[in-house]
Amino acid sequence: MDLIQQASVLIKEGKLVAFPTETVYGLGADARNDKAVASIFEAKGRPQFNPLISHVSSLEMLESFACLTDKAMDLIKAFWPGSLTLVLKRREDVQPVSYLVSAGLDTTAVRMPDHKIALDLIEASGCPIAAPSANPSGTLSPTCAQDVERTLGGKVDMILDGGPCRVGVESTVLLMTEEMPVCLRPGGLALEEIEEKIGPVLISSGSSSAPRSPGQLLSHYAPYRDLRMNAEDKREGEAYLAFGSSGGVEADLNLSPSGDLKEAAANLFRMIRQLDREPFTGIAVAPVPLNGLGLAINDRLKRAAYPRSYPR
Ligand code: TXA
Ligand code: MG
Repeated sequence: MDLIQQASVLIKEGKLVAFPTETVYGLGADARNDKAVASIFEAKGRPQFNPLISHVSSLEMLESFACLTDKAMDLIKAFWPGSLTLVLKRREDVQPVSYLVSAGLDTTAVRMPDHKIALDLIEASGCPIAAPSANPSGTLSPTCAQDVERTLGGKVDMILDGGPCRVGVESTVLLMTEEMPVCLRPGGLALEEIEEKIGPVLISSGSSSAPRSPGQLLSHYAPYRDLRMNAEDKREGEAYLAFGSSGGVEADLNLSPSGDLKEAAANLFRMIRQLDREPFTGIAVAPVPLNGLGLAINDRLKRAAYPRSYPR
């Protein structure tokens, strides 16, 4: 079995594989597998769940989980494979990617990398591969396999070595769900080139300071119902989202009956959505400890629980 095939077996088993792209090395997992995606956040030590890019090897694969628009198609024809990530509406009807990949948003980021090893790996795995840059949270993105080995070596199941990255900065991220495309992160493909193809692009005010672009956008995600954290009881009308044994409160769903934070992260966004509907009038969430992935879980719960005075 060659290395790509070995790596694809790991991906199918829900393991982590670091792989080269033309921009930077990615830390990849099966984008449809909640637990595998949770492992990415755990390995990076991310204090928050930022949404991830799903990497595809064909348009057909893209259309299995995202909605294409004419403008997006024009960009794809011009720049894929390449250093351009498109944020599109998620599809729910076919084979959606994990809600953790979207960090609970209704959108999903997609890119076709311009790198043979990456494309072969995606093709052999037969699924979109979710991958942030393969570095611990808050550190520099890796542009060679040794960078990954040094910082994440013990946490990934395999590193595919494709030598140094040709582009060396992350992809340009364009939000395609508004009237006019919005640049959320400047990157490997110049805005001028993009504007030449599709006309004017808005620049997100957050983007100048930001590899982690949609801090603001993220706060847009919230359940429709009020959410109460650290809840040790269930009030009239509320759904109860438990964690572990939850002191015996009757659970409607449980993030992780065994109290496993990785499992809880994998279930978080999907379960909140499942409870954000009738007959419930609110969602009470059990206390989740503040260690490991619990930090990211509590961060997202805090945002979801933030009181909002505007109609949604
Ligand atoms: O070049 C790259 O883009 C590399 C290689 C591995 O492909 N990947 C990368 O991933 O830089 P990451 O996770 O470090 O950055 C992904 C960016 C973040 O700024 C994230 O907020 C944004 O894409 N993003 C992902 N999904 C999004 C969504 N649904 N809405 C808005 N922004 C999103
Ligand atoms: Mg990054």
